[in-house]
Amino acid sequence: RSKVNINALQNKVNLSEKITMLTCYDYPMALLEEKAGIDIILVGDSMAMTVLGEETTLGMDLDTMVTHAKAVRKGAPTAYLVGDMPYMTYQISKKEAIRNASRFMAEAGCDAVKLEGGSNMADTVEAMVKATIPVMGHLGLTPQSMAQLGGFKSQGRDCAGALKIIEDARILEEAGISLLLLEAIPPEVGKIVTERANIPVIGIGAGPYVHGQLMIVHDALGFFDAFTPKFVKKYVNLNSIILDALESYKNDVVGEQYPEDGHNYNFMNGELEKLLR
Ligand code: KIV
Ligand code: NA
Repeated sequence: RSKVNINALQNKVNLSEKITMLTCYDYPMALLEEKAGIDIILVGDSMAMTVLGEETTLGMDLDTMVTHAKAVRKGAPTAYLVGDMPYMTYQISKKEAIRNASRFMAEAGCDAVKLEGGSNMADTVEAMVKATIPVMGHLGLTPQSMAQLGGFKSQGRDCAGALKIIEDARILEEAGISLLLLEAIPPEVGKIVTERANIPVIGIGAGPYVHGQLMIVHDALGFFDAFTPKFVKKYVNLNSIILDALESYKNDVVGEQYPEDGHNYNFMNGELEKLLR
């Protein structure tokens, strides 16, 4: 396929075709997501939890994110690639936000960066967009502010909370975001935001009315068991498949079923006889 750019995504919206989005953290998975024709790939700071075993996303650092984004880009040359700005790489100043975001663009070949927050981030978003960096907004459950939200909790389930998300979406769009992500909110809030938006709106646990869906790939594949949010649909239980394979390997070695003849390197003709002479 040709390179997925923002126009191609907006075209899907105009044609009422759903946009597909998954997270990805490494080269082999990127090859598969590219092959499957996933439109948008997010190198999420959820990697802190899914890959690095952390309990939150707060400890993720920019160097690690850029390294992995580079690897994902190699495996997925045509996907729309979004780099997730880690905690405190964009909150401190506009200058730091621009400088840090530019690494995802220039070093990893991302098409956009994602950051969490609403009206509080509007000035930063505007500065980044002026500096040629396309931004994806992220509202609703924003894991980097979990200390203020009181944990990984769904959002916008009362009138005031819903209105805040709807208002933040408008402010972020005015500030210049190219795309918006909504996480863990009621479908009705997703619907209102999507109807009012002039940009693609993607949901993760935001109901069916948004323009596209995101899932964390380790959740979709059953490759992450620490906890399972309500919006996850497991398409395969990779953990049990991999565990079976690991146990078979162990049993083969212990039971001397591996290696077999075909796994061995043989001497060149006549050389073994010379050695044994
Ligand atoms: O880091 C991530 O994967 C994310 C999604 C869960 C929205 O930000
Ligand atoms: Na994230």
